Amino acid sequence: MASNVPVTVIDGDDETTIRVEHGTNLRRALLDRGFQVYGTLSKHANCGGRGLCSTCTVAVDPAPEPTHWHDAAAVRFGYPRLSCCIDVTEPMTVELLDKYVWGQVFPDRHASE
Ligand code: FES
Repeated sequence: MASNVPVTVIDGDDETTIRVEHGTNLRRALLDRGFQVYGTLSKHANCGGRGLCSTCTVAVDPAPEPTHWHDAAAVRFGYPRLSCCIDVTEPMTVELLDKYVWGQVFPDRHASE
């Protein structure tokens, strides 16, 4: 029987802890529970989790080692991680990001905090 892994999801001022089956794709886990990882347009037009469109980004802590070249590039350049390229294997905190239409992340939304 697969174990459940706690994932804390921060969405603006809301914080929710969900339990995810070990090994579940993070993007799938978030979408299945109604969390939005996309911008207003990219939620309709995206690569379907194949690591190609870079619109499914989230902030993850602790950040697992990248296993996909695109996600490795995100790490190298300090960009948010591709949720479709992360499998949940240990507890983590995920922050959903404010995005423009396609998927660009708004500049540091916590700058005033
Ligand atoms: S859904 Fe396209 S890169 Fe993740």
